[in-house]
Amino acid sequence: MVHNTSQTQRKSEGSDHLGRYYTKLNIGGLLIAQMSGIAPNSVLDLGAGAGSLSRAALQKWGNIELVTVDVDEEVRLHLKRLARAAAPGAKHSHIHVDALSDRLPRLLSAKTNSIDTAICNPPFIIPQWRTGFAEIIEDAGFSGCLPVLSDVDAALLFLAQNLRLLSERSTLGIIVPDSLISASKYRLFRKELLQKYAVQRAIRLPRHSFLGTDAQAYILVIGKGATASEKIPLQKFDAHSRMSSELLVGVEDAIDRLDFEYHAQRQGSAVLHPATLVLGSIADIKRGSLSSSESRSMPFPVLHTTDITVDLTGHWCDLSEFGESTDGSFAGRHVVLAKPGDILLARIGRNLEQKVIGVAAGFPILSDCVYRIRVPPAAQKQVLTQLSSIHGQAWLRSRCYGVSAQQLSKADLLTFPLSC
Ligand SMILES: C[S@@+](CC[C@H](N)C(=O)[O-])C[C@H]1O[C@@H](n2cnc3c(N)ncnc32)[C@H](O)[C@@H]1O
Repeated sequence: MVHNTSQTQRKSEGSDHLGRYYTKLNIGGLLIAQMSGIAPNSVLDLGAGAGSLSRAALQKWGNIELVTVDVDEEVRLHLKRLARAAAPGAKHSHIHVDALSDRLPRLLSAKTNSIDTAICNPPFIIPQWRTGFAEIIEDAGFSGCLPVLSDVDAALLFLAQNLRLLSERSTLGIIVPDSLISASKYRLFRKELLQKYAVQRAIRLPRHSFLGTDAQAYILVIGKGATASEKIPLQKFDAHSRMSSELLVGVEDAIDRLDFEYHAQRQGSAVLHPATLVLGSIADIKRGSLSSSESRSMPFPVLHTTDITVDLTGHWCDLSEFGESTDGSFAGRHVVLAKPGDILLARIGRNLEQKVIGVAAGFPILSDCVYRIRVPPAAQKQVLTQLSSIHGQAWLRSRCYGVSAQQLSKADLLTFPLSC
């Protein structure tokens, strides 16, 4: 029987309400390999699922004491068999419970005295808030990030729960969604994480690291009870199983983002393309107002990201078919119009950096997935050229964030570096 928590689950990155997107074996092996220099006695795997991480742990560390936890009852037998096959000398216990329940610490202490290592790939869902969550977050030392959070990714709760359950000197290897690494919403969380724990490594994973989803995720290796790191090593593991070299970033920069791609682009471009000013100092940036479903029901055409095809990037386009003048009633709706000379950029989408065009003619009405960038006439040509250049596209790509669909924040776009 699978526990139906649909009443408590509000939003999921995919269609599975328990976020059961299992880790591919090579990624499970990679996570364990990154937890180097430790010799665990007891290992905890919260949300163990089909056991990819547990299997890799047993293969590397052998006769450990392994405790797996999952709310899905169906995985129990499978995990039992897997543990016996992978390391017959290991001691395995399984607990069928909600890993975020306040019963877990008690159930766990009935199985083992202390846990010195934890491995975890949590569900990428946003559960309905429960009062017990505040205690988990506070106990792990992240209370400063609470006031700004109205809802929290399960990944943050699992991360905090692991840190809370681990013994004094211990290590956690966890897979987290891009939100925890890049979203401004989690800035205070990153600050507290980096101040209170030793973040030993953050590795960007390729999409398709999990079965059934292409979520953007990262491996974090975190030391508890060790001195907080002053420089954080960031890396990228690509789809061809190649690991990049390490990029060391200071804590302040890591609070901004723990993403290799973002910092590698930033450091490279500071050397190769020194900026003399940022886009925000000369541009007025506004996003369209109509959602895609509203756009479809309007009695007039609305320019959406799908209308900005990749082959048009960098070109000045006649967009009269999406609006010929600034006059009109627009069905009583507030609309955002562009005018000739404006630059339009997709705000959301996998390849949004390849969707930037100039308005040569027309007054197109914009959907809320499109940014309108208005700069003084003398700068229009230069801004479009720089945004659509190889360097500009790499910059935009490095600022995109999102577990599933990618997006670009206005705050980031305002900092686009322009060279004269
Ligand atoms: C992304 S899967 C990862 C499974 C496995 N660790 C792996 O890496 O393949 C998330 C797992 O968490 C489990 N899960 C979801 N919500 C849970 C909860 N509240 N408590 C315990 N397990 C949960 C799901 O059943 C699923 O097995």
